[in-house]
Amino acid sequence: MNAILRSAAGKEAGRAAATVKVWDPLVRVFHWSLVASVFGAFLVEEGDTAHCWLGYTALGLVAFRLLWGFFGTRHARFSDFVRGPRAVAEYVRARLAGTSQRRLGHNPAAALMILSLLALIAAVGVTGWMLTLDAFFGAEWLEDVHGTLAWTLLALVGVHVLAAIVESVHYRENLIATMLHGRKRAIEDREK
Ligand code: HEM
Ligand code: HEM
Repeated sequence: MNAILRSAAGKEAGRAAATVKVWDPLVRVFHWSLVASVFGAFLVEEGDTAHCWLGYTALGLVAFRLLWGFFGTRHARFSDFVRGPRAVAEYVRARLAGTSQRRLGHNPAAALMILSLLALIAAVGVTGWMLTLDAFFGAEWLEDVHGTLAWTLLALVGVHVLAAIVESVHYRENLIATMLHGRKRAIEDREK
């Protein structure tokens, strides 16, 4: 009986050890709130109150993420995933050659995408806010800048989602589900 219990406990421990916690709850709530507020801003009438508040929400979320990038949990920290151009190029080269290694946190290419998305959202939000100021009343050039940045952001989101799907297939790990439950398959020795 004891042997059966021990074996069951062993299996349970093995299963628990097979996945590790990667994205803390704040990162996950941040991500899906950002998705809702950015898509929301595109969907509601441009320039009206709801549009602006959705934009301000996205701005607030970006501000939170910058702080969390310094003070957050291990894989949320910029120091865990932000790398220079050489590391990004190296990762892309290895990935295309099929020799890249799966990572628990964001890979260097994903990090570049993440920083670009955050910067673009900040720029779209700030130019949107500027449009409400008397100083820029009727400034068509600023409307154009705001619009162009926003459509560029949407295009980048398209690439981001496509990359998430392609990488999920490549590494045989549902990265989108990972952004929901926060866990990833532990790195095994043969992957190192
Ligand atoms: C994530 C944030 C935001 C996104 C994705 C976004 C997106 C857009 C888009 C797609 C348009 C239409 C551009 C076009 O005509 O092609 C637009 C217009 C506009 N947005 Fe935003 N926006 C954001 C934030 C804001 C904020 C925070 C404000 C104001 C406080 C704002 C104010 C406006 C105004 C006034 C227009 C109309 C400009 C015009 O007349 O052409 N937006 N926005
Ligand atoms: C407006 C739309 C979106 C924006 C602005 C956005 C932005 C971001 C950001 C900033 C991160 C980094 C998360 C962090 O560390 O805090 C991220 C990660 C991620 N996003 Fe999105 N996202 C959007 C839509 C989506 C959608 C629709 C999906 C899936 C269907 C998705 C899947 C993912 C995945 C899988 C990751 C983790 C990537 C990795 O494992 O390295 N995102 N996204």
